[in-house]
Amino acid sequence: MNLNIAVLSGDGIGPEIIEQALRVTKVVCEKFGHVLITRTALVGAVAIEQVGNPYPDETHNLCMNSDAVLFGAIGHPRFDNDPTAKVRPEQGLLAMRKKLGLYANIRPVIIFESLLDKSPLKLERIEGVDFVAIRELTGGIYFGQPQGRSEDGNTAYDSSVYTRMEVERILELAFRFAMKRRKKLTVVDKANVLATSRLWRQIAKEMEPMFPEVEVDYMFVDNAAMQIIQWPKRFDVMVTENMFGDILTDEASVISGSMGLLPSASIGIHTSVFEPIHGSYPQAAGKNIANPCATILSAAMMFEYAFSLMEEGALIRKAVEASIVAGAVTEDLTDDKSKAMTTSEVGDWIVEYLSKY
Ligand code: IPM
Ligand code: MG
Repeated sequence: MNLNIAVLSGDGIGPEIIEQALRVTKVVCEKFGHVLITRTALVGAVAIEQVGNPYPDETHNLCMNSDAVLFGAIGHPRFDNDPTAKVRPEQGLLAMRKKLGLYANIRPVIIFESLLDKSPLKLERIEGVDFVAIRELTGGIYFGQPQGRSEDGNTAYDSSVYTRMEVERILELAFRFAMKRRKKLTVVDKANVLATSRLWRQIAKEMEPMFPEVEVDYMFVDNAAMQIIQWPKRFDVMVTENMFGDILTDEASVISGSMGLLPSASIGIHTSVFEPIHGSYPQAAGKNIANPCATILSAAMMFEYAFSLMEEGALIRKAVEASIVAGAVTEDLTDDKSKAMTTSEVGDWIVEYLSKY
């Protein structure tokens, strides 16, 4: 098979973690006889610096003409502390999601047996945790208009907006996911306060009869935030709006022991994007210390979701698991920093495992 992949490394640790994910992708392609074609493009703060636009047209065209996008990270502290900045790196990520029609962000929350002790949560609470958070990605308060400031600058507003069409398509995807799994769907909302949440709940209830085997449960987001820590095993598929999903998945990453472990797939209308759930971690940029596993696992999802190459994806996951079991891990996963491997050493280990396998 030919794999045409757009590579968008972005900012901070983006280039370092993408490099390792690409090495892994390459060795897997060689092993299985696939032809890998990669082309790179600018996104984020580097794109603002070089061409004044965080998601330039050339980047969008490349994404549109590729089979999949492998994405690193976006964000730069220079913009975080400048509330007056006119263009921000994050706008690049949002524009990409919107223009590619990536309305669903799939974030599996899994744990590695060998890392159970790395989680701040008690063993009996997290052993066997296996759920998928499905986050709506192109609507809600991230995109709703109006957004802005009053003329005197003293009032600011964001709008959360959802249409029936947007809610139906993400819920349908979530129901289908549940059908393929343990048939349990938790719809997370704030229907006791928000109008958009009440629309979500209404539509979910309308859809229930179409999926009679799926057991649906409705949970307020504040309660869900607690349950994720208290009893995460209760979840199978969780579906929620854009901002709740953003917050809850960072929280959920604590279960697995490190944010550096959780991958994601953003799917929808055009080319799918595969990216770690973590950000650009600017403090670590260029230091070769960031955990590449979330990005490597995102590459595994890319094989599965974009190319239906399940065996390839499974093998990558197995290699990552093996590296963790062997203690070939970055400093976020070691108590003793002197035992930590660098980003590229972890990549070396995984590539070597794959080439011998
Ligand atoms: C994520 C990130 C982004 C988001 C930021 C970088 C805009 O936190 O992908 O979860 O909020 O969606
Ligand atoms: Mg986030």
